[in-house]
Amino acid sequence: MKPIQVGLLGIGTVGSGTFKVLSRNQQEIRRRAGRGIEISMVADLDVDRARKAVNDMGGTGVQVVADARAVIANPEIDIVIELIGGYGIARTLVMEAIAAGKHVVTANKALLAVHGTEIFAAARAKGVMVAFEAAVAGGIPIIKALREGLTANRIEWIAGIINGTTNFILSEMRDKGLDFGVVLKEAQRLGYAEADPTFDIEGVDAGHKVTIMSAIAFGIPVQFDKAHVEGITKLQAADIRYAEQLGYRIKLLGITKRRHDVDGIELRVHPTLVPAKRLIANVEGAMNAVVVQGDAVGTTLYYGKGAGAEPTASAVVADLVDITRLHTADPDHRVPHLAFQPDALHDTPILPIEQVITSFYLRLQVADQTGVLSKITTILAEHDISIDAVLQRESAEGEKQTDLIILTHDTVEGRMRQALAKMQALPTVLAPIVNIRKEELN
Ligand code: HSE
Repeated sequence: MKPIQVGLLGIGTVGSGTFKVLSRNQQEIRRRAGRGIEISMVADLDVDRARKAVNDMGGTGVQVVADARAVIANPEIDIVIELIGGYGIARTLVMEAIAAGKHVVTANKALLAVHGTEIFAAARAKGVMVAFEAAVAGGIPIIKALREGLTANRIEWIAGIINGTTNFILSEMRDKGLDFGVVLKEAQRLGYAEADPTFDIEGVDAGHKVTIMSAIAFGIPVQFDKAHVEGITKLQAADIRYAEQLGYRIKLLGITKRRHDVDGIELRVHPTLVPAKRLIANVEGAMNAVVVQGDAVGTTLYYGKGAGAEPTASAVVADLVDITRLHTADPDHRVPHLAFQPDALHDTPILPIEQVITSFYLRLQVADQTGVLSKITTILAEHDISIDAVLQRESAEGEKQTDLIILTHDTVEGRMRQALAKMQALPTVLAPIVNIRKEELN
């Protein structure tokens, strides 16, 4: 049978990786897919660079063009891979590809987290697939696991290290005892962080990814605008050190959780204390890992490279194989985009951050004098917040202030915010109180 024809929009790092993996493993891929998979057209604004890249990879006979619409308009093309990124032209081209009856493979988490509902609806109406394994955690097949492997389960929660840049920075901060700003500069110098790292360090990239996982896990629409997103820019080396002393590591986690006490789902990204003995706490450098808790299977962990040319290409090519196997199937018999049948999606609300339940790490810089601790514990007790552990830094000779570290048990965030405001107003609390959420993940 003639190979299925693929058009590639954007040939940067992942596009080149896809080209190489498809070409290197073509025999194995053909045996799996039942027919060959061939990139026959590439579109890139920098057409000279694209042509050279394709030639260097031995892509003779591949048509290289500047205009992505020429790929979409080509009746020979069955699948369009979108690797442009962002919400702008990528959205327009994906919608046009769907309208032209092409299946789409995309690594674009931002696009799906924000416009997924519109894109999946258009794809359904047209009877085409939109596959996006590469959009979450790069080479880790977490979408496949959530949509298919765990389909027997009621998913309870997901917690993931889903941004390699920030995990690299946090690992370096811990290893070298350095503050965020210093490590970021070094990460940029070494090429681990982008020149503009905003989406990574502010938690937005992780927010996009956890939004997609949440939709698939709970059968709800994608709704990034409801996610609570905090990055790592305010983290200080001192808190990483104190957390360590208390048996915890600080990780930027994307978390989504089904609540049983209220009808709602938590959807959040923030620095999180995790017990050091958990496997996920030991995921270092730019690696990614996702923990999924299902009612039948219990806890499962998925670990691997979340970025890079060939790890991400591994996911893109897996999607190409899926589409090749299924494209002649009745659309109703394919795996639904969000794992649940479209008419069975629920509108379970995403809870505002004030209603989220977590435990907390607090660091208070206080005057080292009689009664300070008791005033603080009284405020916590008045807000029904139970203390789990307290650590006080030993003061140096003659020093008049100290750090007080408190770990709490679970509490509703709104209550913690009220208590924090009261504690902050105490004259013996000398600096803004550091508060970081903590998850036991058990
Ligand atoms: N910038 C992402 C990361 C990779 O650092 O993990 C692409 O999603």
